[in-house]
Amino acid sequence: MTKLDVKIDTLRPEYARALEQLQRDCFPTLADDELMNEAHFLNHCRLFPEGNFVALVGDRVVGLGSGFLIDFDFDHAQHSFQEIIDGGFYSHHDPDGDWYYGGDISVHPDYRRRGIGSKLYRARMAIVKALNRKGIVAGGLIPDYVHHKDHLSAQAYVDLVVAGELYDSTLSFQLGRGFEARGLLRDYIEDEASDNWATLIVWDNPEYQPRKAD
Ligand SMILES: CC(C)(COP(=O)(O)OP(=O)(O)OC[C@H]1O[C@@H](n2cnc3c(N)ncnc32)[C@H](O)[C@@H]1OP(=O)(O)O)[C@@H](O)C(=O)NCCC(=O)NCCS
Repeated sequence: MTKLDVKIDTLRPEYARALEQLQRDCFPTLADDELMNEAHFLNHCRLFPEGNFVALVGDRVVGLGSGFLIDFDFDHAQHSFQEIIDGGFYSHHDPDGDWYYGGDISVHPDYRRRGIGSKLYRARMAIVKALNRKGIVAGGLIPDYVHHKDHLSAQAYVDLVVAGELYDSTLSFQLGRGFEARGLLRDYIEDEASDNWATLIVWDNPEYQPRKAD
């Protein structure tokens, strides 16, 4: 396989339209109203451009790692995707928030398994470290649960993926990058493959130094 020349750039308005198409290409099982569109990306660009990343091969937008800062409350962790991302606008972004909430990571199907997703995660962790925040938190989908949901509960499935006994194309990738699974989020998203479940995944910033009043 030829080596890809991939560039990671921060989000700019000129990428917004291509990102809308990328959403459709990357999430074929998601309901239309779960997908982000051009207006959403323009807002991310206005709020937190330095924390939102695009992967480019030449001029082509092939990947996205997007998110925002928030004081995530682990004692009340249950939330839905639409609620926390404010319908895709990321308007809960708090420049002083302790955590980077991962709103989306996606790589075009033609470019997967070539290290682009990992590069996007590294870019996110680099901004988390540069801003001295606690880490990255997200709802990780479990798209391969669809093959097991008739005989395993979501919890049993995630336990087996965490133990390395089952492979999930999204959750296994995230665990391999440095995330830990810290519970399940029910009715997180309307997605038949994940059966509407997500895993609460957390990747702590090992360099975090206490700030604010903690
Ligand atoms: C999850 C996702 C972002 C991963 O992106 P990606 O670019 O394929 O990720 P990478 O290439 O960095 O890593 C994926 C796997 O390929 C492997 N890989 C990386 N480079 C490789 C190469 N050159 N050759 C073979 N395998 C390679 C990695 O080791 C990794 O395997 P592992 O998980 O067993 O460790 C992508 O699959 C995707 O867009 N999925 C659909 C959207 C989605 O579900 N997003 C997450 C929502 S929570």
